[in-house]
Amino acid sequence: MALIPLGVFFGGIITGIPVVTGVAEGVAEQKRVNEEANNETRMFKFYIDAVCEGDSPKAQEISKCMVVLRHDKVWLWPRDEEGMPAPAKTGPAPHPFTGFYIQYPDDARSPPELGLVSTISNDPPMLNWIYVDKKTLELRHGNRSTSIEHIVGPWDWSKDERDVILEGFDGFVVVEEEEREDGLKWAVYYDRYEDDLSQGRKVGGRARVKCTLERRLLPEGQRKMQEAEQEKKLQVKSRGGLTTKWD
Ligand SMILES: *[C@@H]1O[C@H](CO)[C@@H](O)[C@H](O)[C@H]1NC(C)=O
Ligand SMILES: *[C@@H]1O[C@H](CO)[C@@H](O)[C@H](O)[C@H]1NC(C)=O
Repeated sequence: MALIPLGVFFGGIITGIPVVTGVAEGVAEQKRVNEEANNETRMFKFYIDAVCEGDSPKAQEISKCMVVLRHDKVWLWPRDEEGMPAPAKTGPAPHPFTGFYIQYPDDARSPPELGLVSTISNDPPMLNWIYVDKKTLELRHGNRSTSIEHIVGPWDWSKDERDVILEGFDGFVVVEEEEREDGLKWAVYYDRYEDDLSQGRKVGGRARVKCTLERRLLPEGQRKMQEAEQEKKLQVKSRGGLTTKWD
């Protein structure tokens, strides 16, 4: 059994969470679901690159972007040559999505849903859930209390494990919002009802580009180093018991 890096679980360890499915589904099914949800490969950290349909200038611009997190929202931002977020207009580059799949701890969700988490800062090492605001359909990040009312999953990967999908569906749309001071403007939305965000009405008619979110696994060396670093920082801070509660 692989050791789950402590550093990843700021505020409590989450490992080997038993998934309780309905009794009717039987033991074999439950075993399969458990294995899948706790599969170590689900926890390999990845970045996310955007790939857009079409060859419009906007689609081309976005296809050179990666997913970043800032202002509690999920954005696309240009990649540099190393595949990391390019410098911002003001201040530091935004934090790259650096995350993995793990079951969302909520007894009220049955069957349990696979959630998506990402670091939001390296020091202190902090994790947030990635979720979709059920009213605005924008992708956001937040703690459990903030996210629990919203669409928190099930997140998944496509059959080839390349693309990020939500509710079995690759329905992400990038919306050109009013540019922030730091230069962020491409916000990620989820076209849940496959109606182009109510023909754009949801986003005040702003420009929209459909895109695919592609996983890019962290190189193994980098992943190990990051985990070791976070673990070191964390040992001082946390004695976290075995718990699935995580705020
Ligand atoms: C874990 O996931 C990998 C990749 O999807 C798969 O090849 C493997 O069989 C899975 N293992 C278990 C125990 O489900
Ligand atoms: C969760 O996040 C919200 C919004 O940022 C914050 O107000 C709240 O205190 C946080 N809850 C916990 C338990 O940290």
